Amino acid sequence: MTSQANTDRVFIFDTTLRDGEQSPGATMTLEEKLQVAEILDTMGVDIIEAGFPIASNGDFEAVATVAKRAKNAVICGLARAISADIDRAGEAVRFARRGRIHTFVSTSPIHLAHQMKKTEDEVLEIVTKTVTQARNLIDDVEWSGMDATRTPIEFLARCTEAAIKAGATTINIPDTVGYSTPEDYYQLIHDLIAMVPNSDKAIFSTHCHNDLGMAVANSLAGVRAGARQVECTINGIGERAGNAALEEVVMALRTRADAMPYHTEIETTHLSRASRVVSAAANFPVQYNKAIVGKNAFAHESGIHQDGMLKNASTYEIMTPESVGIKSTSLVMGKHSGRHAFKEKLKDLGYELADNQFQEAFQRFKDLADRKKHVYDDDIVALVDDEMGSGADRIKLVDMSVTSKTGGVHRCELKVAVDGAPVEVSFDGTGSVDAIFNAIKAAVKADPHLVLYAVDGVTGGTDAQANAHVRLEMNGRIASGNATEPDTLVASARAYLNAYNRLLVERGAPAQGALAG
Ligand code: KIV
Ligand code: ZN
Repeated sequence: MTSQANTDRVFIFDTTLRDGEQSPGATMTLEEKLQVAEILDTMGVDIIEAGFPIASNGDFEAVATVAKRAKNAVICGLARAISADIDRAGEAVRFARRGRIHTFVSTSPIHLAHQMKKTEDEVLEIVTKTVTQARNLIDDVEWSGMDATRTPIEFLARCTEAAIKAGATTINIPDTVGYSTPEDYYQLIHDLIAMVPNSDKAIFSTHCHNDLGMAVANSLAGVRAGARQVECTINGIGERAGNAALEEVVMALRTRADAMPYHTEIETTHLSRASRVVSAAANFPVQYNKAIVGKNAFAHESGIHQDGMLKNASTYEIMTPESVGIKSTSLVMGKHSGRHAFKEKLKDLGYELADNQFQEAFQRFKDLADRKKHVYDDDIVALVDDEMGSGADRIKLVDMSVTSKTGGVHRCELKVAVDGAPVEVSFDGTGSVDAIFNAIKAAVKADPHLVLYAVDGVTGGTDAQANAHVRLEMNGRIASGNATEPDTLVASARAYLNAYNRLLVERGAPAQGALAG
């Protein structure tokens, strides 16, 4: 075991902004990435993987800006085993107080044969060459063997030894396709550390995908076997079924310290807010029964459970809602609530808004309170998330009118502002929503494919705000949009526009016609 494996400190490496952002539709704007990075940095994440700098200028800018702003965390940029990638990652993280280059290459026979078309010896040479290059740029270098869990251990051990010899200080063992069981993963980490002669010179790291729902269990098994870095994401977002969820790893280690005597430096009271910020930034709803941060995670419905809770919370609660930052507040909001009360409520709910965002959110809260008798916490959360998620939109809804007749015409008259300039169109459809979406497509002169459209109520009742979700696909790129409004049709239009705006992010293309063809 490494010298690190003899200590009980586990480093948390968050990859929400890299692997998480690779989730279909989870594209974030620069402003959103900075918000996410700020909360990660504040809550005590040790390493933030802020992006893949060679992927686009937007990714480079995000990594470089996070690097400049982070106060505590190491800022990491991802690079393939390609010289230009490594140079670009080095350039982006050089602004950080502490930076890291994370370079990876596939090691499994399946990847070597079908994707890389390389022999094991060629891959070994690449490992030495690329880690050496990265190490010449920065002291902190992480190496990953992609698809490590489907790689024969003898070859993985040779790659690992070569990477450490070339200067890698962290060795990451990804379960790229989420194939491992906890037993497999424990054995792999344990045996690898034992087999690699220089393993004491690096920290071993887990990176588990959730295809079979075992990402967190596998990560924890890796820690028990000697890994001391866990790669994870807020809400478990990531490629396909996602990555190990940060909040679950951290709370499992904290709550079951008796079984797993390891600790992280995460301030767990930030978890709930981090979940909300990421959900809003990535337009990725959190399932109600999601462990730790789901709406129902601390709700007790059955009579027997409620009875037990009233007598003593420990009957059915293994951790307190407060420990993950959920506060029970008594401040009821309505149309007479002023700025101060609204600010206090936002603070209780874990939001700190910039002045202009606060003014906008307060105005929207007042409008809502005028129309709706009871303004619940969920209404305020939805309203603020909406405000944060659409602030940078280039195309905004100005006005809309929809006429619908049973068995007759459904028409939408629409006015939008495209980069500030007004555009007016009128379009028919087979129903109201179809007419609205057709009108938007005419206004932006593009025809993205609608992948998903769904609406739910933020709270109960017919006066509840509608939360609309739209997912669009164009030229292989997917983006999701969200909007919350008292009116379902307006919410639908704004969600569509929000998704379209996200398709434009980082393209630097004109807003109209940018995506056609
Ligand atoms: O899942 C994976 O293998 C990865 C690597 C880039 C570390 O994300
Ligand atoms: Zn991954």
